[in-house]
Amino acid sequence: VSRGPLEGRHVLVTSGPTHEPIDPVRYLANRSSGAQGTAIAAALRDLGARVSFVTGPATVPPPEGVEVIAVETARQMRDAVQQALPADAAVMAAAVADWRVTNAGARKIKKDGSGKPPVLDMTENPDILAWVSGLTDRRPALVVGFAAETDDVIENATAKRARKGCDWIVANDVSPATGIMGGTENAVTLIRQDGVQEWPRMGKDEVARRLAREIARALA
Ligand code: C5P
Repeated sequence: VSRGPLEGRHVLVTSGPTHEPIDPVRYLANRSSGAQGTAIAAALRDLGARVSFVTGPATVPPPEGVEVIAVETARQMRDAVQQALPADAAVMAAAVADWRVTNAGARKIKKDGSGKPPVLDMTENPDILAWVSGLTDRRPALVVGFAAETDDVIENATAKRARKGCDWIVANDVSPATGIMGGTENAVTLIRQDGVQEWPRMGKDEVARRLAREIARALA
């Protein structure tokens, strides 16, 4: 039996995009592949953690050896996270849709011949990271959020850490020119209370292994 530093620990990971229905055949989505969250779940598993992996409809397959909870919408993701708690740590790597369609119907929207497109009314989704961070009961000892930014990465991510109330933020530059979104590499900055660490550009697997080691150190 291999024993790692996270043996006996339970870590929750959210990953992938969410899909928000417009009608039974259409949805709003984003370009998250789930690659980074999947790599993080695998790295935590490799250090001995029991991992609950709450994933939206990702394009990469989930890792083996973790408990996979597949969801579609932000609200389903929130419910699955609630079910999976308590945990020692939570890593929220999902690209949760900020809004859902308020008037999503049970019937396919059809062209009505008037030439007028339908109007989609939107409602804000629950912020799962902020909610978990603010729990008084069952709050994981360590809550890690992500911040996908296209400009002023450190400044925006530092503000996000404060706003969400999480312990760490993993900030990444997702400007299209970086090729990070959907790619195999990532360039991240780890923002904690005690300072900022800029990591060199490396594979998402290596980012995951480093982050898992930092989590193990923090929980030790
Ligand atoms: O607000 P923003 O989407 O930029 O924040 C990103 C971080 O917040 C990520 O860790 C993401 O998983 C989390 N998040 C969440 N629920 C939301 C929106 C974002 O958990 N509704």
